[in-house]
Amino acid sequence: MRAVAVRNSGDKPELMELPAPRPAPGEVLVELAAASVNPIDVGIAAGFFEDQMSHVYPLVLGVDGAGRVTEVGEGVRGLKPGDLVHGQFFRAPLGNGTFAEYAVVTEFPDGGALQRVPDGMPAEIAAALPTAGMTALGALEAMGLRDGQSILVVGATGGVGVFAVQLAAAKGAEVIATARPDADQWIRQLGAARTADYTAVDVAEQVRRTHPGGVDAVLDLTRDPARFSEYAGLVRDGGAAVSASLTASPELLASERIAVSNFMMEDKQDLLARITAEAASGRIQVPIQQTITFDQIPEALVGNTAGGARGKTTVRI
Ligand SMILES: NC(=O)c1ccc[n+]([C@@H]2O[C@H](COP(=O)([O-])OP(=O)(O)OC[C@H]3O[C@@H](n4cnc5c(N)ncnc54)[C@H](OP(=O)(O)O)[C@@H]3O)[C@@H](O)[C@H]2O)c1
Repeated sequence: MRAVAVRNSGDKPELMELPAPRPAPGEVLVELAAASVNPIDVGIAAGFFEDQMSHVYPLVLGVDGAGRVTEVGEGVRGLKPGDLVHGQFFRAPLGNGTFAEYAVVTEFPDGGALQRVPDGMPAEIAAALPTAGMTALGALEAMGLRDGQSILVVGATGGVGVFAVQLAAAKGAEVIATARPDADQWIRQLGAARTADYTAVDVAEQVRRTHPGGVDAVLDLTRDPARFSEYAGLVRDGGAAVSASLTASPELLASERIAVSNFMMEDKQDLLARITAEAASGRIQVPIQQTITFDQIPEALVGNTAGGARGKTTVRI
């Protein structure tokens, strides 16, 4: 089968011809129809998780995917051949990813989530949702955002951000979204009440002007610890600041003035069910920036670290 994989930790991802996997007990074999790209893919290729879980090489990349179950292993009770499934194919050993024609995954992936695709949902949408959607939903719930409160979303135009903006706006929050000019109108249409172009203005100063008493919450989806500290300083006493990228320092985490956390997803199965229900009902959109072909994945992974994401990049397998 065709796959995008790395031969060794730290190698450049490349297109390879590999044997299709077979399902072991408790696993299902999925013929993938679509996948989506996430920053974590580059992290996995670089060996970011090597201390935390086992890996198999050549390591097939890709955590988000959607496709059809073609075979089930012994002991699988809830799924059968023909079922359409989607989810985050993240579990030990890492290396059976979704950038492939086939992937094996456990019926209940220990580090990820898998479920049936709702009737009528296109595979591309089902593949775009898992990691980014679950993160946005989980992070907003972790900060307990309520109707009428204000939130600064930093990195609002990317995969996680587009869901966070919509979910926060749907809760009745006033969303201040960072956006470069090309994305300004678009992010407003998704629910942002205000925008701040971080390339042209001092975002913190702008927020201090519009919200002199502080904002209720900050969700930072970018990767600079100093920037997170600065934006956490915009939160009013008793509010919350959440980093999705582990940029909250130990000193900030110990803050008694505001609740600070480095967000880690819990109960992904529940998050996947709920974010998918939001999309299936039409309450949120699933913004897809581009759909690429299999051959374009290695290049897209390089591009994923270069910035400029406007929603999700999906892959037609
Ligand atoms: N904790 C978890 O479980 C979890 C799960 C998923 C993702 N994450 C993390 O969450 C982060 C976001 O993921 P993603 O999928 O949304 O990434 P993404 O799709 O690459 O989006 C990042 C966005 O940030 C914008 N950006 C870059 N620099 C910025 C700055 N200085 N100020 C404001 N915006 C800026 C980018 O747009 P421009 O380049 O045009 O500015 C882009 O729209 C990543 O660090 C990822 O690793 C964590």
